[in-house]
Amino acid sequence: MFPIIRHRRLRTHNAIRALVRETVITPNDFLVPLFVVEGKGVKEEIPSMPNYFRYSLDLLGDEVKELWRLGLKSVLLFVKVPERLKDNKGSEAINPDGLMQRAIKTVKNACPDMLVMTDVALDPYSTYGHDGIVENGQIVNDATVDALCDMSLSHAEAGANFLAPSDMMDGRILSIRETLEDNGFTDTGIMSYSAKYASAFYGPFRDALDSAPVDSIDIPKDKKTYQMDYANRFEALRETEMDIDEGADIVMVKPGLCYLDIVRDLKNEIDVPIAVYQVSGEYAMLKAAAEKGWLDHDAVMMEQITAIKRAGGDIIASYFAKDVVKLL
Ligand code: PBG
Repeated sequence: MFPIIRHRRLRTHNAIRALVRETVITPNDFLVPLFVVEGKGVKEEIPSMPNYFRYSLDLLGDEVKELWRLGLKSVLLFVKVPERLKDNKGSEAINPDGLMQRAIKTVKNACPDMLVMTDVALDPYSTYGHDGIVENGQIVNDATVDALCDMSLSHAEAGANFLAPSDMMDGRILSIRETLEDNGFTDTGIMSYSAKYASAFYGPFRDALDSAPVDSIDIPKDKKTYQMDYANRFEALRETEMDIDEGADIVMVKPGLCYLDIVRDLKNEIDVPIAVYQVSGEYAMLKAAAEKGWLDHDAVMMEQITAIKRAGGDIIASYFAKDVVKLL
């Protein structure tokens, strides 16, 4: 007899499709990246990230309240540091009255229950645009880890709930964990960017923060000596397992879409929550194609977000978060 099993039966109506749908997106899935700048009344669009903005502190509170109203309960903060405050060691990163520290307090004042995560890396503070301290043309690991510990402590003292080290130095998770424990921040979590690849998809983000590595003959122009080679798969598991052993509460794969094989590999092997960062270049690509009328923005966006979750992403950091929840 012609097939007993007809797969199309489960696709006949919207209701049956809804009933058997395996992956459902909710506002609980998202972590919203926010870019903060000095100044007053500033809400400036990032040219390579249409409809995404940098906010000054006086406008940040309103934006956060709007996110909360939409059901978005977690933010990931990044700051654009004035050029004159940058140096090789990222000294400004530990200024108790620095932009990040004030931003953390601003978010907490506006919305006390909002979960605040902060980016921990030197690049926005570095004259060289590197995530670590540069010595003799190299990004030095251990001195950078010390700086990251100081930075983490400073964020925790300002009220951050989770620290998100995005620097890819070795051993930083354990050192940061110990620093937090030693100082009584036992409930402050760590979301480690554990499998972060040296990717060309970060371009628009570096425009947003003016944080690209400088072009100079004695300094590496890229981040390949610390971020992972995108040709590698097993290394992602080693990196991630080590960060978990060192005390990471949440791990991350970054970028998103090109790396969903890695997300699934990790999901099959580890049992801590996995965050996926759908990065700036991924956002820019869809915005550009949609502007040209070549792709249906909302349809492609939902397909991409669903694919990230289906692959095993428990938490999605995405510039589309607001757009997505408005459609749900
Ligand atoms: C900084 C950092 C980067 C991103 C998050 N944290 C850029 C980089 O590593 O150069 C990229 C985010 C994005 O592209 O959306 N350490």
